[in-house]
Amino acid sequence: MQQQEAAGQAPRTSLHGHWSSRLAFILAVTGSAVGLGNIWKFPYLAGQNGGGAFVLVYLLCVFVIGMPVMMSEILIGRRGRRNPVATMALLGEEEGHSRRWQWVGAMAVVTGLFILSYYSVVAGWTLAYVQKSMSGVFVGASPAQVSAVFESFTGSWAQVGIAHTLFMAVTIFVVARGVERGLEQAVKFMVPALILLMLILLGYSINSGSFGLGFKFMFSPNFAALSWDGVLAAMGQAFFTLSLGMGAVMAYGAYLPEETSITSTSAVVILADTAIAILAGLVIFPLVFANGLNPSEGPGLVFDTLPLAFGQMRGGVFFATIFFVLLAFAAWTSALGLMEPAVAWLVEHSHRTRAQAAVMVGGLVWSVGFGTVLSFNALSGFRLLRGTIYDNLDYITSNVMLPLGGLLITIFAAWVMCRNSSADELGGAGAIFKSWRFLARYVAPVAIAFIFLRAVGVLG
Ligand code: TRP
Repeated sequence: MQQQEAAGQAPRTSLHGHWSSRLAFILAVTGSAVGLGNIWKFPYLAGQNGGGAFVLVYLLCVFVIGMPVMMSEILIGRRGRRNPVATMALLGEEEGHSRRWQWVGAMAVVTGLFILSYYSVVAGWTLAYVQKSMSGVFVGASPAQVSAVFESFTGSWAQVGIAHTLFMAVTIFVVARGVERGLEQAVKFMVPALILLMLILLGYSINSGSFGLGFKFMFSPNFAALSWDGVLAAMGQAFFTLSLGMGAVMAYGAYLPEETSITSTSAVVILADTAIAILAGLVIFPLVFANGLNPSEGPGLVFDTLPLAFGQMRGGVFFATIFFVLLAFAAWTSALGLMEPAVAWLVEHSHRTRAQAAVMVGGLVWSVGFGTVLSFNALSGFRLLRGTIYDNLDYITSNVMLPLGGLLITIFAAWVMCRNSSADELGGAGAIFKSWRFLARYVAPVAIAFIFLRAVGVLG
């Protein structure tokens, strides 16, 4: 700001509008952060990678790496006030380096579209499961029957395709309405609603689940079950769950009012996201154990194992329905953030209206999403590298592209940007600024590089 004023320019504003308050921004970033990652992915990853040991590494990654990276993204976004590609180009030049930093922005935007292409498919499952839970098919069903529901549903490309189409349609609808009338309105209703639903389910699980067993599974570390690949998965999950490394938080930061504290907003969002992931585990695992089921089921944990548990319990129809509505809301507010960077880019780049841009980006993602739709049925026998098309998309985006994007964004904020510019955004060069800079310059980059190289086997 000072610099801009000194240069005689008006403070920058965003073409897309601004959040109406600090709370709106917090809800928007929390809404993007809390999603399938917290409620579907985190429990199954923890289940597969030794429970407590995974949770511990995940928490370390969230606070030591996630916090400085999130602050970096917001401060870059607010300073540039454009879409991530244009912001990186603008600041790259303004900070005396190079416009070529725009390629980091471009990679980020593309990563978001890839994630959304499979995210929307799983989000579609949640919509279908709201309807299935309400219909009562799980009541008293045997394990084989519940699995048959899951398999016959995911085995039908038409059913999965319709659910994916429906989910993309509602996402496009909200994004098309713009920052204040679309995104902000949606998160103001859905984020509080999902917190409420989560608390209702927690009460249910405490009463009717094996709470102690679930608790123990999540918090007593068994390091023997955690490989370096598991550590990489924990770091990938930290980026994924906080929506980092792909420009979403940067894009949302562009609409943030000038006076808002970046440090405290980041802290609130990270605490909320972590709390919801832990609560999700504390809802799911006790129910799984109470019914003698297996926690390391993988992606089917929430769709195959959990409905079986609900089907055995009193009030199961009601609580299963609540659970899947919660999941659908969480996915919806996240999908908004996955789309926003590309839509903002298209609006700024081509002077199309936001509605046109949302339909175009959404249509592209929708068609790419059919790769994932088919990877559970027609193409489920097709294996390459890591498994199905979905497995590959998930591994490459979460474990490679997000950490790489986060690393480059943080290096930009902490090494390329002038000290004055970042200090200016973080409210002066005090102790908070110094801690951020230390974490962002040394700790986060070294940790990301180390975990990454170790997991791919470069470091013995
Ligand atoms: N954080 C989301 C979740 O946990 C997923 C996600 C990853 C995301 N990157 C994002 C959401 C970017 C919005 C924007 O489910």
